[in-house]
Amino acid sequence: MDGLNRRSALKVGGVAGAAGALAVVAATSTGRAQPWTWSPQGSVAGSGSGADPMTVWDPEADELVGGLIDRGEVPRVNDALRTWTRNGQPLPAGLPPELRDFMEYARQLPPWTDPAKLDTAIQFNKKRGLYLGVLYGFASGMMSTVIPKEARSVYYSKGGHDLEDRISKTAKLGYDIGSNNAYAPDGEMIVTCVKTRLVHAAVRHLLPQSPHWVHSAEEDIPISQNDIMVTWHSLPTTVMKHLTSWKVPIPVHESEAFLHSWQVAGHMLGVRDEYIPKSWPEANSQAAQVLDPILAPTPEGIKLADRLLSLGANIDLTILSKPVLGAFTRFLLGDHIADGLHIPREPVWDPLLRFSWGPFIAVREGILTAVPPAADPYWLLDEFLRKAALMYLSELRMPISIEIPTMNRDM
Ligand code: HEM
Repeated sequence: MDGLNRRSALKVGGVAGAAGALAVVAATSTGRAQPWTWSPQGSVAGSGSGADPMTVWDPEADELVGGLIDRGEVPRVNDALRTWTRNGQPLPAGLPPELRDFMEYARQLPPWTDPAKLDTAIQFNKKRGLYLGVLYGFASGMMSTVIPKEARSVYYSKGGHDLEDRISKTAKLGYDIGSNNAYAPDGEMIVTCVKTRLVHAAVRHLLPQSPHWVHSAEEDIPISQNDIMVTWHSLPTTVMKHLTSWKVPIPVHESEAFLHSWQVAGHMLGVRDEYIPKSWPEANSQAAQVLDPILAPTPEGIKLADRLLSLGANIDLTILSKPVLGAFTRFLLGDHIADGLHIPREPVWDPLLRFSWGPFIAVREGILTAVPPAADPYWLLDEFLRKAALMYLSELRMPISIEIPTMNRDM
């Protein structure tokens, strides 16, 4: 079956029809440059079919949510779910029974959850909140604009037209996972993940109906299990890579706990355990296969990045100006990506970050005690660090309610 016919199947039959159509071609047409070789033995499950995650979506959620959209039930469901905010809270009354059953199942933590590790993760998040805020915001946030499939999905989905609102909602997940009671009954992370899983299922149903998305996308159905792991690596794997390169001292039990909190998040977002890496070496090896080779600018990503870099000016016109945030992006993601995103070179901040960030962190961490004579840059970088983390947090304009979309972006 050729690409055109698969697309027609999508339009006629929605995701269920397309999934059937895709089953025929899945094994051969993933578009992956190299065959999938990451072994499920490196996963939290320890075994698995080894199926390429590019050919796997989230069948349980997808069929269910597609049906809710087609039957016009989503507005009623969103109304009911707005009141469901805490992990331990019973589901609201009035949900369609099949959705209720799915959510009761999807809200269960995996059997391999280690509460002691989740506690340690909380300590780590508290200790390293400033760095984590800046890295989630800039390393992960800007990286999402050079993940082509994500950039296109976000751009053409409903949330693409109100980027600030979308960032607030995504920031909520980073905030919830780092909060004191993330996965505890009074926390919100489980609720955020389950709602996000439903949103992703809705996007899988809706985007194939967007002529703009269909025209620009390589894949027929968005947000495969592979795509979720790509984005996952743009979060914890990338954050840990930078913390390590900045030589921030992190005890092994803390870095493992941080990983664990994200392993649980992956599971709660509907990723199969056979694709969730069991250790940092396994995570790094999977990222080398799924994330590193695909980073590239797209017209949609360039526009999203431009808008992201303008958001800081709402908080501080000087230190969070577009050129400074651009320089920080260049520093974190490298010249190749920054040039691809059309970020101009910055004559003062580019060299400042390149030469002073390392020593600045070393001074902050007490590793380097003798502050060099020119301490001014250190003050400036400290100011930047605090304000940039604040910028990330300020996106959390409460109350944030993650809602299932019923349409694509109105272009
Ligand atoms: C929605 C997080 C992977 C595309 C959301 C939302 C969150 C989230 C919290 C709800 C916010 C909102 O309603 O706007 C995550 C996390 C991921 C992930 C933590 C992986 C670990 C992906 C991937 C794609 C994607 C791989 C695409 C390839 C979208 C889209 C929306 C969405 C299009 C809906 C935006 C809208 O129309 O409102 N995601 N996501 N996400 N996500 Fe993801």
